[in-house]
Amino acid sequence: MAVNAERFLADLHKLRQFGAAGVGKGVVRPAYSKADIEARAWLSDKMAEAGLTSRMDPVGNLFGLAEGRSILLGSHSDSQPEGGWLDGALGVIGALEVARSSDRPVSVVSFQDEEGRFGVTTGSAIWAGQVSLEEADRLTDHTGVAFGEARQAVSHLAGDFVDPTSFSGFIEMHIEQGPTLDTAEEQIGVVTDIVGIRDMRITFNGRQNHAGTTPMHLRRDAFQALAAFSAEIETRFRNLVTPRTVWTIGHVSLHPNASSIVTGRAVFSMQWRDGDSDRLARMEEIIRLTAQEIAASRGLTVEFGKMLGLEPVAMDRRLANALATSAEKVSPGRWRRMPSGALHDATNVARIMPVSMLFVPSIGGISHAFDEDTDEADLVAGLHVLEDAVSAIG
Ligand code: GLV
Ligand code: MN
Ligand code: MN
Ligand code: MN
Repeated sequence: MAVNAERFLADLHKLRQFGAAGVGKGVVRPAYSKADIEARAWLSDKMAEAGLTSRMDPVGNLFGLAEGRSILLGSHSDSQPEGGWLDGALGVIGALEVARSSDRPVSVVSFQDEEGRFGVTTGSAIWAGQVSLEEADRLTDHTGVAFGEARQAVSHLAGDFVDPTSFSGFIEMHIEQGPTLDTAEEQIGVVTDIVGIRDMRITFNGRQNHAGTTPMHLRRDAFQALAAFSAEIETRFRNLVTPRTVWTIGHVSLHPNASSIVTGRAVFSMQWRDGDSDRLARMEEIIRLTAQEIAASRGLTVEFGKMLGLEPVAMDRRLANALATSAEKVSPGRWRRMPSGALHDATNVARIMPVSMLFVPSIGGISHAFDEDTDEADLVAGLHVLEDAVSAIG
């Protein structure tokens, strides 16, 4: 039986109703939110309808298991705090559609907290043994809620962890989330490797004071330290980085965050990504040294939180070649091999089994935003490549 493109598109649109932002097709479905848990309950029913045995593990990773040894397909169904409708969802619904139409044993997964409310690809990292449950339970989100507390929201649905040895490999279909395929007017990316990432919370502690009476030279302003740090690392990174190196200060919290108060404390996320672990380590040295120097020169102190990270990882050759052969069949001349600058559950799963990924274009290269989108024809092309590769791999 062939995949049914209309059913696949209808299910993708159904999934975006869970946590629909009311802005375009955007979704707000962070890990363990009501919308996330309801979406997982709906997915669980869909898995059962497809003849799979649905099982949620203690952290909320949801599996639809075929009998015996199978290939695992999927991605994640949680979203960023302001997320698009396809990031993660495409890989999960594509997996479901292939599972229900393939004559091969296909299992489906939606990993939990890929978007890192508690760190970096938390659910798949735990499942693949990259992070222990005990360690993960102590991670906190930006509001101070601990992972161990948050995951209690699914404790009534949870069973045991699923044994990874029952899977022969993992394929994750995803939107590119960048501009390469869209700019080249190509339909499919076959991923060669995924970047490494480091993520660390940094705090500048200064002196909260009156914004009218405190002379500039006496201030110990935590916001000004953060601003100086941001500018200075850009200068110091200059001779080290490549066009694929990126860094982001994406979350900032100022205390007490009022216009007539000199900022006493600035807490912010510092994240950096590159394909080379040595460069990631060099960047870490620069970050730590720069923050310490800026703090010392301005009379502040600096604290570094626990650094989370994942190493760069190469995709499995045999699976990638199967995807490439299928891409050429489905979209002749309109595909390429390419690296991934976004992080994926595939990074963790690649530690324990052969893994590969395929991309479809993101219109305008936009993702992690409500207006993330992909042409229907490209979504369907991705589905066909996935279907064809699964039947070829067996
Ligand atoms: C995860 O979505 C990432 O930030 O790449
Ligand atoms: Mn994703
Ligand atoms: Mn994402
Ligand atoms: Mn991601």
